[in-house]
Amino acid sequence: MNLASYYVETWGCQMNVLDSQQLAGVLESRGLQPAGEPGTADVVLLNTCSVREKAVQKVLSRLGELHKLRLQGGNPKVVGLCGCVAEQEGARLLARSRVLSFVLGPGKFKQLPGLLDEVEAGGRPVAQGFVGSNRDYDASLIVRRGGARQLVTAIHGCNQHCTFCVVPYTRGREVSRPLADIVAEVRQLVDGGAREVTLLGQTINAYRCPASGADLADLLTAVGEVEGLWRVQFITSHPAFFTPRLIAALGQVPRLGSYLHLPFQAGSDAVLRRMHRRYTSQEYRELVAAIRAAAPHLTLSTDVIVGFPGESEEDFQDTLRLVEEVRFGQLFGFIYSPRPRTPASRYPGAVPRPVAGERLERLFQLQEEIQLSLNQGLIGRTVEVLLDGPARRGALWQGRGADNRVVNLPPWEGIAAGQLVRVAILAASAHALFGERAAEG
Ligand code: SAM
Ligand code: F3S
Repeated sequence: MNLASYYVETWGCQMNVLDSQQLAGVLESRGLQPAGEPGTADVVLLNTCSVREKAVQKVLSRLGELHKLRLQGGNPKVVGLCGCVAEQEGARLLARSRVLSFVLGPGKFKQLPGLLDEVEAGGRPVAQGFVGSNRDYDASLIVRRGGARQLVTAIHGCNQHCTFCVVPYTRGREVSRPLADIVAEVRQLVDGGAREVTLLGQTINAYRCPASGADLADLLTAVGEVEGLWRVQFITSHPAFFTPRLIAALGQVPRLGSYLHLPFQAGSDAVLRRMHRRYTSQEYRELVAAIRAAAPHLTLSTDVIVGFPGESEEDFQDTLRLVEEVRFGQLFGFIYSPRPRTPASRYPGAVPRPVAGERLERLFQLQEEIQLSLNQGLIGRTVEVLLDGPARRGALWQGRGADNRVVNLPPWEGIAAGQLVRVAILAASAHALFGERAAEG
């Protein structure tokens, strides 16, 4: 079997985006070249997400489509299942899909060349699990896409065991990377043209350098000092892991982005307890107040789950109340989805789907109003924007401010992705700002 080209499909979060870039790098180190589409690739990797909704069915239906492609044109010759569904399902999916060649969990990326050898020899191998602190992360192997905006892992895995969440089972125990490695990687990225770096971790504020014991405040400071960087961002923070030192750092670190993702999940203390989130809604409110006192310029965003088992209308009202009070700049809302092995999947009190759907609608409607009013409050301001490229539709270009807000503006001659420009905001919708390039100075 001559394997010369590859295509990686990415589902899910930014960690998966970065993982796909590393999978691409491992394949390129074995001599494979990127293909433009799955039908022309010898090897297709599905880098999957299992956080919500029928993850396995989605994978099976995509495998069915790839099987049809193969019957039509011969490619892809090899299909690999990677990411969180791979870790969760392992060999089970090999038995359910003939097109699937191998299964590779997020802790075993470097075994990919060996797996391809085994496939060429007629095998259907499975590589899963996590060995101690060895997460097969190799910055030198990552094929960086994204130009001026780059992702860097700070912590692998998660130790939290929120009762709804599958991540601790699919990404293993927490392992922080050494601070010096992270800073060296950021420096290299900035030398290569990066302007914004987002540090990744499921509970990034639990970061502890294994060599020095440095915490996230130290890490942000060290990264913020990298010459040539515009902004350092970090996701995701867990409300139970903020120290006074970290809160103070939010107002002091040079080049820190003004965007803080702080999921609260639910406004009812009874639901938070059953979720095992380790804070009450009052503690969350106090944390927000402390953060805003230390860093008033921050825009907060959050994740919310509706329809958690046993969630009553009153519980949901608590969620709406918290959203109304905090006024998040952005909110990601999800209907609770039972995940394999998680404690909540065995909880009684399932909320009927139509009820959960209607709650999500009401949540989104409230958030839409808040976002519109916050965004309209920015009309007349001038903001710095890192340009990403042409907007998907129309003639405008698009970028993001340091607070992660999308900004649209008309292009000019010489406009390029990765440019930093000052933009005068002229109009706003709930989801974007609109403006024009401001005069320099
Ligand atoms: N580590 C982050 C944190 O501390 O919140 C979140 C990681 S999780 C991959 C991203 C978001 O997906 C969560 O914040 C939660 O809102 C949502 N999520 C996770 N499991 C879910 C489930 N079983 N059903 C619905 N939403 C879920
Ligand atoms: Fe999931 Fe909770 Fe960790 S949401 S990723 S178990 S902090």
